[in-house]
Amino acid sequence: MTSEAVPHVPIPPRGVDYRNKIVLAPMVRSGELPSRLLALQYGADLVWGPETIDQSMIGTTRRVNERTGCIEWSRLPSNSGVLVENMKPSIIYRMHPEREGRKLIYQMGTCSPERAVEAARIVAPDVAGIDINAGCPKPFSTDGGMGAALLKTPDKLCAILEALVANIVPEYGIGISVKIRILKDPKDTEALVRRLVRTGIIGLTVHCRTTPMRPRERAIRDQLRMVRDVCHEAGVACLMNGDVTSRDHALALMEEYGVDGAMIATSAEKNSSCFRSEADGGMAGWSEVVEAYLRHAMDVGNKFGNTKYLLAQLVPGRHAEQVGMFRGHSYSDMCAALGYAHLMDKAHEVDEALEIDPASLRRAKEELERQKKLRKAQSNEARRLQRSSGVVGSGNASAAAAGGNTAVARSSEQAPKRSLSERGPTASVVSGIAAEAAVVAADGTLPSKAGIAA
Ligand SMILES: Cc1cc2nc3c(=O)[nH]c(=O)nc-3n(C[C@H](O)[C@H](O)[C@H](O)COP(=O)(O)O)c2cc1C
Repeated sequence: MTSEAVPHVPIPPRGVDYRNKIVLAPMVRSGELPSRLLALQYGADLVWGPETIDQSMIGTTRRVNERTGCIEWSRLPSNSGVLVENMKPSIIYRMHPEREGRKLIYQMGTCSPERAVEAARIVAPDVAGIDINAGCPKPFSTDGGMGAALLKTPDKLCAILEALVANIVPEYGIGISVKIRILKDPKDTEALVRRLVRTGIIGLTVHCRTTPMRPRERAIRDQLRMVRDVCHEAGVACLMNGDVTSRDHALALMEEYGVDGAMIATSAEKNSSCFRSEADGGMAGWSEVVEAYLRHAMDVGNKFGNTKYLLAQLVPGRHAEQVGMFRGHSYSDMCAALGYAHLMDKAHEVDEALEIDPASLRRAKEELERQKKLRKAQSNEARRLQRSSGVVGSGNASAAAAGGNTAVARSSEQAPKRSLSERGPTASVVSGIAAEAAVVAADGTLPSKAGIAA
């Protein structure tokens, strides 16, 4: 059945239709604002924000950041419910109204219809849709009855969706959707989907893995056609998710399975240019993507720890180690390590605005200066060797010695020793970096990738 042949649940006036869309998946940490802007830059049609728990939004204050144009919902940090004095408010959710607002779907973690509605009212005026996460298998979600736990409590899941449809759709004119995983028995998946599509939702995303499946295990697509048919009978758009690697791959799968759209997570996390079709240029190299990401991160004043985490996903590990990226403590450090002298002024500005330690600004300047001196010394040395090779017909010191020109050979051997820092990563430096990365990981700013996969 093609999507044209099926009835459509009406799309609310401020909502978006998920049909014919290739979208960025919700990803905690990896789906913050700069990642979403990057995905949109490379052609994602819609972007899902990272799952945000209802209770963390309730009680936040909304403000427009004049410097960046972002809308930020923040609250004072609390320690076991007790407000901590003299602390800066922490930003719980951030979006950019002009650059993503009409394409942003807010994803919520919840297990309560009342709280879901209360939290949805906070963001609904600013986003294009609200999605409920019914697929996260992590204990922090399932222990509270949220995420994949909702697959086992369909009454509760339906009550949440119905409450949102009854309140948020008429009040704010945006659509409600849900993201689920398949159940082991296709009959159970079918029974669940039949109930979900009758709640008034406009879209359903099916992650083609069961709850216990690990992200490395291949997605199972056997149930996809059945889920699509049930969605289409009710006029609900069906998005597929799981091992979709690029726009062209998504289009081929949409054709093969007759679904309305596709959602991409890990491939986009590694390189968002996967949203660009071959016809439009295809995948870009990592260095282009990294620079584009850094620009977005600085434009919106993204939290530095998150930017560093994302850069660690985007920059190949060897290169990151070689340039000392893991040692960076500021945007200036990152630009210095990556050799982005042209972004340095912007980086200083952002560091200042975010009140990032000025000592790291100084270190970044020194690093750029050091690189400049090193390049100069290297080109002087190359010129000197060229000149001397003109005398003996070879720039190679041992060849010169073998040819009897001991003066040239000695002068090459006696080239000034480079300092440790100029020699690039030796074993001890590399292990130092690794140790430092581990400390950062312990701080929570650069954790291992293994963990999260809702
Ligand atoms: C880092 C990371 C964070 C994720 N966070 C969420 C989330 O907040 N909400 C959600 O529904 N799924 C989340 N997921 C799951 C993805 O949205 C997606 O369903 C899953 O990775 C399968 O897609 P893929 O095969 O394209 O990676 C996350 C996945 C990753 C890798």
